[in-house]
Amino acid sequence: MLPFDVHEIRKDFPILLESVHGKPLIYFDNGASSQKPTRVIDRITHYYEHEHSNVHRGVHYLSFTATQAYEAARQAVARFIGSSTPQEIVFTKGTTDGINTVAYSFGETLKAGDEILITGMEHHSNIVPWQLLCERRGLILKVLPVLENGTLDLAKLDHLLSERTAIVSLVHVSNTLGTVNPVKEIIEKAHAVGAKVLLDAAQSIQHLPINVQALDCDFLVFSGHKVFAPTGIGVLYAKHALLESMPPYQGGGDMIERVTFEKTTYAPVPLKFEAGTPNISGAIALGEAFAFLESIDLPGAYEHEATLGKYLRLRMKEIPGVRFIGDAPETCSTLSFLVGNLHPSDLGTLLDQQGIAVRTGHHCTQPLMTQFQIPGTVRASLAFYNTLKEIDNFIHALERAIKLLA
Ligand code: ALA
Repeated sequence: MLPFDVHEIRKDFPILLESVHGKPLIYFDNGASSQKPTRVIDRITHYYEHEHSNVHRGVHYLSFTATQAYEAARQAVARFIGSSTPQEIVFTKGTTDGINTVAYSFGETLKAGDEILITGMEHHSNIVPWQLLCERRGLILKVLPVLENGTLDLAKLDHLLSERTAIVSLVHVSNTLGTVNPVKEIIEKAHAVGAKVLLDAAQSIQHLPINVQALDCDFLVFSGHKVFAPTGIGVLYAKHALLESMPPYQGGGDMIERVTFEKTTYAPVPLKFEAGTPNISGAIALGEAFAFLESIDLPGAYEHEATLGKYLRLRMKEIPGVRFIGDAPETCSTLSFLVGNLHPSDLGTLLDQQGIAVRTGHHCTQPLMTQFQIPGTVRASLAFYNTLKEIDNFIHALERAIKLLA
């Protein structure tokens, strides 16, 4: 395997050659969605040209071929995240779908008065499903606060955890602040009181090595489209015994063993949680994305990205009036900021005109915006295919935008 070379890797991502408003694209919106390598795009075409049929149903060649490719993708996911068995991998629509599945299904096993602990930096998708559960079943939602520098207030953790805590559901890397949370420590503390832990890995799966067995998390969810695979496919990892003990989330085809009008028995896990025709091509393309990642010097890619993240923060500090929203000691290559009183969406629009894609707004973390008393931020979120030169160009473009708006 060749050592990581960003210029070589960029050749795998055709969209990076696009121009936007006549300028070379600088794609700094990887937190929202990552771009796709050619082999992932080609894998989808190959599937539809040569392998497509429905899975787990037919006795014919194509159904068998599609089923094999779909199940091979499940194995690829299990291997990539360090699960001991593909039976612990449920294909979902994405992170949101995964959290809703757990909130509904694991939620059915809880009783009134049980507590759910989330944190102040959660995405709406890790807040609202728990609120719905609390309303439905009389549970109590608690929130671990966030400090001014964008880290969790861990001093309050022991106080918030108790034998009433049923589950701690938290983000691994904040999509807004870029903070990398000390999840191993939190998982150990949660387990010490008998609580389960769900890790939202939507913003970590593409940036950090993840091993579910080493982390010992009970659930882990992520979206394929943030890790170089298509939209509409995601993963819920859950410990086997938990999947066994949880009732199904949705009923329908493929999740049953035997149906009569009196009683239905369910398919073994993970199929019990995959009602209906799944996103077959998406799952296969996700497996291909992990095969792509396994084919490159991934530690080298992580290191390059860490260099980019540090360089971005360093260069941003040179700009007068810049305020970082969150400046935790451990961050990944995502940076939210404001400049003086300038509105984030004005800055975003002027950056777009210079070919630069960033996200502006509340990033689906309105409680964080309320805490920091801001309407939104500008967010630059990088991937390993970005370059130092792109950061330099971004800084110049930002300076031009500030001058125009001032
Ligand atoms: N949750 C995604 C983001 O942070 C869409 O942009």
